[in-house]
Amino acid sequence: MRLYVDTANLKEIREAVSWGVVSGVTTNPTLVAREKFADFHAAVREIAGMVEGPVSAEAVSLETPAMLDEARTLAGLAPNVMVKIPMTPAGLRAVRQLAAEGIATNVTLVFSAAQALLAALAGATCVSVFVGRLDDAGHDGMEVVRETVEIFERHALDAQVIAASIRHPLHVVQAALAGADVATVPFKVLEQLFRHPLTDQGIERFLADWQELAAKP
Ligand code: G3P
Repeated sequence: MRLYVDTANLKEIREAVSWGVVSGVTTNPTLVAREKFADFHAAVREIAGMVEGPVSAEAVSLETPAMLDEARTLAGLAPNVMVKIPMTPAGLRAVRQLAAEGIATNVTLVFSAAQALLAALAGATCVSVFVGRLDDAGHDGMEVVRETVEIFERHALDAQVIAASIRHPLHVVQAALAGADVATVPFKVLEQLFRHPLTDQGIERFLADWQELAAKP
């Protein structure tokens, strides 16, 4: 399973990529709005230059023709831009056309395995299952990831499964166990993944022992 960072913050992306564990970036209109970019397209280009893997940028139009225009513009910004398209009939019409044009898509706001199946049949490159938002609504979000992975495997569907809306480190482990291709993870959760009190204690003790040895005549 690969890890993407789910943020539009350039500092966070730079830092996360420097750790060597992140191979892509996902954004959404909320994350982009938070950064108050003067030029969104320039920001997408800059982010795309920071990672080798895909950078998801979302089309915000609701009708297919406008979505297609937006998607073509976004995809033209850099070769690794993947266009996020919402899980609607208009969105899937756009996905079908974009697939024919060789433009990679990430179908977003997927909350059921049935929606994931539709997106895959339309030719989506990836489907983003919003695990945390499902959990928030009292459902088992990871179960939708498990079902989607099983359906795609059983029917040899090419779409990749992204576990999105990740809230904590356990979600990342569960996504890996469920067979998700990718977990896209907020910066804060990426930081949490590193932490273990026994690692900190171990470093402290090794250092203390080493300094004691060095202090001996
Ligand atoms: O980027 C899509 C998804 O990861 C959003 O997560 O935390 O807003 O539910 P969240």
